[in-house]
Amino acid sequence: MSDVGAMGPPKSKQFDDVYFSVEDGLAESRFVFLERNNLPDGWRGKDQFVICETGFGTGLNFLSAWKLFEETTSQQQRLDFISFEKYPLKVSEIEKYLAHWKGEFGDRLQVLLGNYPPLIPGFHNIILNEKITLTLIFDDVNDAIPDLDAAVDAWFLDGFKPATNPGMWSEILFENMARLSHPGTRFSTFTAAGLVRRGLSAAGFDVEKVRGFGRKRDMTVGMLPSENT
Ligand SMILES: C[S@@+](CC[C@H](N)C(=O)[O-])C[C@H]1O[C@@H](n2cnc3c(N)ncnc32)[C@H](O)[C@@H]1O
Repeated sequence: MSDVGAMGPPKSKQFDDVYFSVEDGLAESRFVFLERNNLPDGWRGKDQFVICETGFGTGLNFLSAWKLFEETTSQQQRLDFISFEKYPLKVSEIEKYLAHWKGEFGDRLQVLLGNYPPLIPGFHNIILNEKITLTLIFDDVNDAIPDLDAAVDAWFLDGFKPATNPGMWSEILFENMARLSHPGTRFSTFTAAGLVRRGLSAAGFDVEKVRGFGRKRDMTVGMLPSENT
């Protein structure tokens, strides 16, 4: 279960880290996970696009991706969004924390809240509309990812920071990311921690440190190269 504090920005006491910043959480989500993953260009011309995220949290990243996908794709294109979450929030918590962006997401937020699964461990497949499917996996990503079968096009690596949540950023995660990726699959993450860059590089990804959002100096992006590069 979540351990989010009652006051102020949503913050985990256990991991001493915030879910997002209240002032510019949406701008940061768009910059770090969409722009830095080369979206919407990456899904142009693809009938199906698969995003996999570590740490669903409030669903802010999911809602930003959902909105951009619908705004920039043609009718037959589909988005499958898969997200792991070890400490799922309650519907009432998500509603409270995303209230600030109710106008921005409109019906999509209501549809997400109305279809949010019971907090039971395991895989929950949710068809939100004819274009968008969400698979929520309520489990530790390292326990569940070996059971995932998917062809992922983009990774959103958004667990709490490696300094307080080192267990999430494991070799199991990085190796399974490589297993589920194809040449050209990209990832982005808010952190530039050495253990993350080294782990992804050892798993076969090209890894690059780039400028972060706002006052954050660095973040990390990368791609699985083709076998002969
Ligand atoms: C910074 S928050 C994510 C914010 C989220 N993407 C959003 O849009 O609100 C990090 C999330 O990672 C989850 N998490 C931390 N360790 C995890 C693990 N080992 N497996 C799965 N989820 C984990 C936390 O519970 C938290 O919801």
